[in-house]
Amino acid sequence: MQTPSIARSEYMQRRARVLAALKGGAAVVFAGGSSQPLLGPWIADANFQYLTGLDDEPEAAVLFDPSAEDERRRVVLFLKPLNREAERWDGYREEIGSGLRARTGFRTVMRTTSLAALLTDAARRAKRLACLHPFAVYDAAVSPDLAVYRKVAERVPGVAIEDGTELLKGMRARKSRAELAMMRRAIAATAEGYRAVVRMLAPGVNERDIQQALETSYHRHGVTRVAFNTIVGAGLNSTVLHYMANKAAAEEGDLVVIDSGASFGGYCADVTRTLPVSGRFTKEQRRFYTIVLDAQRAAIKAARPGVHMWQVEETARSVIEKAGCGDAFIHGVGHQLGLLTHDVTPAGPLAPGMVVTIEPGIYFPDRKLGIRIEDDVLIGRAGNRVLSSAVPKTIEDIESAMRKARRARGGQA
Ligand code: GLY
Ligand code: MN
Ligand code: MN
Repeated sequence: MQTPSIARSEYMQRRARVLAALKGGAAVVFAGGSSQPLLGPWIADANFQYLTGLDDEPEAAVLFDPSAEDERRRVVLFLKPLNREAERWDGYREEIGSGLRARTGFRTVMRTTSLAALLTDAARRAKRLACLHPFAVYDAAVSPDLAVYRKVAERVPGVAIEDGTELLKGMRARKSRAELAMMRRAIAATAEGYRAVVRMLAPGVNERDIQQALETSYHRHGVTRVAFNTIVGAGLNSTVLHYMANKAAAEEGDLVVIDSGASFGGYCADVTRTLPVSGRFTKEQRRFYTIVLDAQRAAIKAARPGVHMWQVEETARSVIEKAGCGDAFIHGVGHQLGLLTHDVTPAGPLAPGMVVTIEPGIYFPDRKLGIRIEDDVLIGRAGNRVLSSAVPKTIEDIESAMRKARRARGGQA
């Protein structure tokens, strides 16, 4: 399989589009700080990654300065200074030069020590600074661009700070052909992970074994990161929406909710299936499973351009309510998917090129029974396409796949 990637020219086009959309205002997009040492990989801010493709430059930033006289300085990449001693711990980094400029597609690359001076000068000329990072809620830290702009505005009279937060949301939500190839790859690896689970699922396996089967399969299929912490909950744990302990044994007669996704080049998959540990749904499980499946199918059918997600949610909810289970559907129907699992949500209805999840569920702790079914759906020009359809979903397909797996293991059909 050919490895999909996003061309440098596409990143350059994205930056040119932002520069034009700013209509003379200046802006900075930050990559974010370093992660805790030895604890997980560093993950770039999604806006930064979207604009640069760089996923290994903590503390970097991009300045948009549309009124710069020197055309080459209208979009500038800032990277933290080289530190030869730190590099012995964290990895070797490149010097600024033609090689780095060619690799990144930036005509001007500077060190972050120059950002304050260039941004202050840009603000003095432009008199407008646009916030491109999403605003934080009031009890969280102020978004990084707004925090810096406030300092600039204290020092440069007459600088206005503007809300530009819809710009990158809108661009990121509508995926390009190259982005869709990345997402399809993440989803294909996720489907392989589910295949591995079907092969090994049986009474007595631990939730952790299921997680491991998924993630080992992702790695085997060229994916090195999960999009989010894998959720594997059997029995009562299937009723916990974001259960991540993954340490109990899955017992005969349990349903297991598996919510997992590979991440390829930063693009996330997010797929949930609910499987019978013993290979067959009980009568009660079939009844509830069918309600969720009907709701999910109706919601997928409703997810078209021009329709709002709240309308898609109403569609799922009405099916579940009609079946008398309204109070058991305790979460939203889905979300945008992209560089983040819960990706930015632009204002307005669904539009072609968006990828959303559709994931109704019902949960009955007293019955130790939770069911969620989640697919990744690409909104097209007229309807949509389910990108995760390779993962078995109907009762018949799940039971048949598990039966075949049992036969292959040499167990009972
Ligand atoms: N995996 C988290 C969610 O489905 O939203
Ligand atoms: Mn999910
Ligand atoms: Mn989801």
